[in-house]
Amino acid sequence: MERCVLNLNYCADIDCIDSFIPRDCLVVTIIDAKIAEIYGKYFPTPQIRVVASENNKSLQSVESISLQLLEMGVDRSSFLLAVGGGVISDLVGFIGSIYMRGIKFAYVPTTLLAQVDAAVGGKTAVNLSGFKNILGVVNQPAFTLICPEFLNSLPKNEMLAGLSEMLKTFIIADRDNYFNFLGEVRSRQLEAKILWPFIKKCSSIKASIVEQDPFDNGVRKLLNLGHTFAHALEKITQLHHGEAVSIGIILASKLSVKLSLLQSDEELTIESDFKDLGLPVASPVKLSSLTDVMLKDKKKTGGNLDLILIESIGKAIIYSINVKDLEGLLNDLS
Ligand SMILES: NC(=O)c1ccc[n+]([C@@H]2O[C@H](COP(=O)([O-])OP(=O)(O)OC[C@H]3O[C@@H](n4cnc5c(N)ncnc54)[C@H](O)[C@@H]3O)[C@@H](O)[C@H]2O)c1
Repeated sequence: MERCVLNLNYCADIDCIDSFIPRDCLVVTIIDAKIAEIYGKYFPTPQIRVVASENNKSLQSVESISLQLLEMGVDRSSFLLAVGGGVISDLVGFIGSIYMRGIKFAYVPTTLLAQVDAAVGGKTAVNLSGFKNILGVVNQPAFTLICPEFLNSLPKNEMLAGLSEMLKTFIIADRDNYFNFLGEVRSRQLEAKILWPFIKKCSSIKASIVEQDPFDNGVRKLLNLGHTFAHALEKITQLHHGEAVSIGIILASKLSVKLSLLQSDEELTIESDFKDLGLPVASPVKLSSLTDVMLKDKKKTGGNLDLILIESIGKAIIYSINVKDLEGLLNDLS
């Protein structure tokens, strides 16, 4: 099988983007409508504007955008440039993968979360009747181009969403950068120039994990640290994804201590670091209701669940646990 190599690129200055645009074909920019207002002039025309919402990450959008592409004369030699956060990259990656059986596409991510996560790794998806990410493929973009300047306009809650994914990546795989990163961001504003070296580090860690396991059968699962809890929390609360991931990581840390995998002082470090950054650490709902949602389907079939747990800051593992045992342990955590 061909080795998977991700084409990640970094440019500190928004003016550099132009040098990455292909010159020898029709390029269509599919761009977050908000981003088009602020930064649209830096991208080629024609442009298709999309409001970045989960509702628009849909088959209806796939159909309407594909029809616009047909009208513009887009064919297999053309190129799609996705500019926006994870909603836009997931949607455009999916369209690029199926339009005329697949055409080239690339990502310019504009949220912190997309720069360190959604636009790195080749997972594309749309939602189906309110069910998230049901239809999708794994297909790598021609390139991802990360530029910190976009973060200057990103609202604080969207910054925090990206921050929890960055901390997650460092907890999984890079102890030194976890502490370096916290040292830099704890005492300062979340500014693009402070984040920049860590965005590069974090996205390249994700890329190297994906290169080892592009289709999520092994080591890539580590990137789900905190997400089993987070998805359950998102189902029953109004929490933002980043907040749910933050609480999920804390619950995974506590469970790791309970299973004697992680020392309790490491768990306390993670919890106080997250609090310092303004990330939530406690579940707003009883853990028993969370457990019910999390294990709903599994309880019927019994057997084991693969959870991502922590051995130390910088090292996560895939831990297979019996569903009944897990239920007891989680109920004890509260
Ligand atoms: N494919 C993957 O591997 C992967 C991984 C994680 C998340 N996702 C998906 O990503 C989506 C979430 O993406 P997201 O968190 O990047 O958010 P998003 O794309 O929903 O954008 C969030 C908000 O920020 C605005 N915005 C974007 N960039 C901005 C900027 N520079 N300045 C000001 N406002 C800006 C958008 O208009 C929107 O209102 C979800 O649909 C999720 O399923 C995919």
